[in-house]
Amino acid sequence: EEIIEIRKSILEWYDENRRILPWRIHEISEKNKNSQRAYEVWVSEVMLQQTQVATVVSYYKNWMSKWPTVFDLAKADIEDVNKVWAGLGYYARANRLLQSSKLIVEKFNGEFPRDAKSLEKEIPGVGKYTAGAISSIAFGLPAEVVDGNVIRIISRLRGIGGDVKKANVVNYFWKLSKDLLDPERPGHFNQALMDIGSAICTPKTYSCNKCPIKNYCVAYAEKLANAKVSNLFT
Ligand code: ADE
Repeated sequence: EEIIEIRKSILEWYDENRRILPWRIHEISEKNKNSQRAYEVWVSEVMLQQTQVATVVSYYKNWMSKWPTVFDLAKADIEDVNKVWAGLGYYARANRLLQSSKLIVEKFNGEFPRDAKSLEKEIPGVGKYTAGAISSIAFGLPAEVVDGNVIRIISRLRGIGGDVKKANVVNYFWKLSKDLLDPERPGHFNQALMDIGSAICTPKTYSCNKCPIKNYCVAYAEKLANAKVSNLFT
């Protein structure tokens, strides 16, 4: 079936091309996932929310050398946290990490909830995207993610557009992302989409020749990934 071929192509691409990033060093396999991974994925995803990968790398390393575990973070003071965060902007994010680390230690003994629904419900500042990222990447559970990259890839792949300011349009992309997700390696699959979205299936200077799923892509077949991209495909 086509969807199985698409998943396989994406995962093979990831195995060959995945970037070695500090929050990915432990992730050769999807096995042995745990709350330490959840902490790492959580911090990296929050940093990546408004900031590019290249900038986040050094901030992430500094953060982890200061507060290697959620227990260390829970004991930090806000001044130190803001100092390490300085330059990343949106300081509310740093504050929320600190406050939420205290809650994770006090309420959950340092163990993160594992499924996306509980993560979103229990941890302040963790929205649907971050919950899906933590659940899939840190725990290997089949939780889908949707962000701008995923919307762009899926809308081109399937040749569909829509106003992403409308909730029903975004909900439809959540459904499509869920259908596409590889159930065996969800964390690798989601990160492959993030990499493909930032390196290949980019808004303007996309490189379809390097794309592992171009043969399944409606936009590629119809040369749609062209001028109309901005209004059709975000
Ligand atoms: N952008 C957002 N999350 C990411 C991740 N885990 N890896 C690479 N880029 C990302």
